[in-house]
Amino acid sequence: MKVSVIGVGHVGLITAACMADLGHDVIGMDDDRSKIETLASGEVPFYEEGLAALTTKVVGEGRLRFSTDAAEAVADADVVFICVGTPSRDDGSPNLSYVQAAAASVATHATSSVVVAEKSTVPVRTGERIRHALALQTQSRGGGIVHDVVSNPEFLREGTAVEDTLRPDRVVVGADSARAHEVMRRIYEPLLARHACPYVATDVRTAELIKHASNAFLATKISFINSVARICELAGADVQTVADAMGHDARIGRAFLNAGLGYGGSCFPKDVKAFIHIAAELGYDFGMLRETDRVNREAIQWPIRQLRRLVWNLADKEIAILGVAFKPGTDDVRDAPALEVIDALRAEGARLRVHDPVALEQIRGRYADVELVEKAEDALRGAHAVVVCTEWDEYRAIKPERLAELLTYPVVVDARNLWDPQELADHGLTVASVGRPQIEIPGA
Ligand SMILES: NC(=O)c1ccc[n+]([C@@H]2O[C@H](COP(=O)([O-])OP(=O)(O)OC[C@H]3O[C@@H](n4cnc5c(N)ncnc54)[C@H](O)[C@@H]3O)[C@@H](O)[C@H]2O)c1
Repeated sequence: MKVSVIGVGHVGLITAACMADLGHDVIGMDDDRSKIETLASGEVPFYEEGLAALTTKVVGEGRLRFSTDAAEAVADADVVFICVGTPSRDDGSPNLSYVQAAAASVATHATSSVVVAEKSTVPVRTGERIRHALALQTQSRGGGIVHDVVSNPEFLREGTAVEDTLRPDRVVVGADSARAHEVMRRIYEPLLARHACPYVATDVRTAELIKHASNAFLATKISFINSVARICELAGADVQTVADAMGHDARIGRAFLNAGLGYGGSCFPKDVKAFIHIAAELGYDFGMLRETDRVNREAIQWPIRQLRRLVWNLADKEIAILGVAFKPGTDDVRDAPALEVIDALRAEGARLRVHDPVALEQIRGRYADVELVEKAEDALRGAHAVVVCTEWDEYRAIKPERLAELLTYPVVVDARNLWDPQELADHGLTVASVGRPQIEIPGA
């Protein structure tokens, strides 16, 4: 089928490459000219495991091409996936102007009926707004064409996005007409033939809600375990063991029960706020989610409180920051908790050396007073404390004796519970780890 993808960012490029891999004829369109030039030159503009190889393959096979021209992208498409950003506004509501602009390109350029699929995460009832906008604009051009709008939420996780897209846990399609359901079923048939998974066919509003409810639930799980972590710290218990034992219960599950620096990235923080906002607009106060958000903001401040406790005054202290990406496997730093940690420490006058195996380029030039280093050891050498912000495997592999050797003060603030605190303590290190008994070297 002929597939058009508007917005080839983290979701759109993966959608485009995977749709092409499934055998569809795909065009990826973006209004960011430099992004399209990068793609046209054979490069992928961001790091995502397996994406560069897949893109090169499907471009080479002639099934994926890129353009900045909306008319070329939309003209004879069967399905147009809208994959543009939906960032938060100051009041927590999502900014849907990019979605509206993408829909406007369809209304302007489509030459026959198209299925417009929302893949961007949008609040419930956005489909109706898109349908209305499409109808108005099509009407103003003389009318005659009726487009379908479907909700096809995206559940990929950055870091494992290609695998998640080609082997999803489920596919959700919300449509309000039999024709649109049929077209979407044909789009996903090659995927379902390769990988059997539940295919949830529902109405547009329900599909939109499934996405917000899923992300809000996962964020709440993280804030829940972070609250338990605070109690463990006060009571002298171990949150890791609590989470492991809870996770053995099939009704609970272990995933997303990692106490730490809280959630970040371009989705959870904004989707939680957007869900609170749309609920309020509909007349429901989603107090539970307001608390999820509050606990998360508190979790991000946890390392700062630990540093003040262990190092006292932070002005002119040299602090090593390990990890900037919002999670391992990606160079995405959008709403990364590490950035808030960096900002808070700079505000206290600390001198920072920051390492990340792939994300440094994303923050180069952002801070004049922060040193970016290519090797983790260069951040650690001579530091008064280290704060782990992203749980990259290469940090896990650092030996406690090496940490002890490199640091000037033996202070470790392990905000991702990467290391075994007892093992570190055995090498003379003072360790703050999340929701676990705090171990300080005797006499310190
Ligand atoms: N990143 C994720 O892990 C993820 C997962 C699931 C869902 N989502 C949702 O998917 C959506 C996109 O997220 P993303 O991370 O891919 O964003 P992104 O910022 O990486 O990509 C968005 C792209 O859209 C382009 N764009 C904006 N307006 C356009 C227009 N009118 N015409 C053409 N191109 C336009 C931008 O230039 C950009 O390249 C968001 O709603 C997000 O919440 C993201």
